[in-house]
Amino acid sequence: MAGGASCPELVGAVCEAGALGFLAGGYKTAGGLYQEIKRVRGLTARPFGVNLFLPQDGRPADPAAVEVYRHQLAGEATWYETPLGEADDCRDDAYDAKLAILLEDPVPVVSFTFGCPARETFHAFDRVGTYTLVTVTSAEEALAAQRAGADAVCVQGVEAGGHQGTYRDDPADEGAPGTGLLTLVTQVREAVALPIVAAGGIMRGAQIAAVLAAGADAAQLGTAFLCCPESGAHPLHKRALTDPLFTRTALTRAFSGRPARGLVNRFMREHGPYAPAAYPEIHHLTAPLRKAAATAGDAQGMALWAGQGHRLARELPAGQLVEVLAAELDTALSDLSGHAHRSTS
Ligand SMILES: Cc1cc2nc3c(=O)[nH]c(=O)nc-3n(C[C@H](O)[C@H](O)[C@H](O)COP(=O)(O)O)c2cc1C
Repeated sequence: MAGGASCPELVGAVCEAGALGFLAGGYKTAGGLYQEIKRVRGLTARPFGVNLFLPQDGRPADPAAVEVYRHQLAGEATWYETPLGEADDCRDDAYDAKLAILLEDPVPVVSFTFGCPARETFHAFDRVGTYTLVTVTSAEEALAAQRAGADAVCVQGVEAGGHQGTYRDDPADEGAPGTGLLTLVTQVREAVALPIVAAGGIMRGAQIAAVLAAGADAAQLGTAFLCCPESGAHPLHKRALTDPLFTRTALTRAFSGRPARGLVNRFMREHGPYAPAAYPEIHHLTAPLRKAAATAGDAQGMALWAGQGHRLARELPAGQLVEVLAAELDTALSDLSGHAHRSTS
């Protein structure tokens, strides 16, 4: 979880409890990522993963649409007394430098989102013994990941918090509902032979049992870990997840220009309908506003990424949360096998 939540402390605590923590590589410099990898290694000797954003190599965003949105946000800049960011500050997020670091000093697992790397990238990670995953949001994307040589896919349902990891953000899909996790896992299971990690809205062990029953090999949880004391999420973000003031989540381009799920707040309501498909331009444009809102203690101006299950979040130390989830999973699996036993006898 980029943006601060998946910091070394959270990754270390999750790994020490026997799960697989992922360090966020998106939005970081290559040097910053390297320092965090070193820190994780100091906290745990167990396997961990690093997540990278694929650079967006599709059509460049329409500068006129970005300019219109800049005008849309002028009142926010006045309100928070901060200039808007530069939309053309679109470096490739140091992707190549991060790949070089990960190939030079390999970590056990690397996952990719916002696209699928080229076959040579998978070969290179294969040679250094790193296990690779690609986030997919459709059976077609899963097939492309399999063809390119990924070791596994992370199947992300529409319930998921944060950005949807679709390969291309196509404005033609605007308003088209995404696919729910159980349906998507079933579709991907029938389309590819790769191991599946299921993600989206999972907050309890019984839900992990459900995705395993649907054909997944593992589950990935994001929002469930945001409230942990080790998580680097902003305290206002943590509090908002279970605050009755925030009643629902929605997908929005308001903060980054790419569909992402967060708690519906004032910023999202006022600007979401006008935000163009322009990632990462809009991410850079709104960065100072989000920072200023956080400094001002104003959750209504922040990006409060959250999955649909946010109200089920539990404020537990990460290691304890892993243990509770594992116990819930055991109970659910034995309930299911007891049920199967009864119905066959
Ligand atoms: C705050 C936050 C930040 C996220 N950042 C990333 C990211 O950097 N890379 C990524 O692949 N997925 C990211 N995601 C999506 C997660 O990988 C995962 O798909 C999602 O959390 C699963 O849904 P859940 O939040 O309902 O558990 C993020 C999710 C959240 C909530």
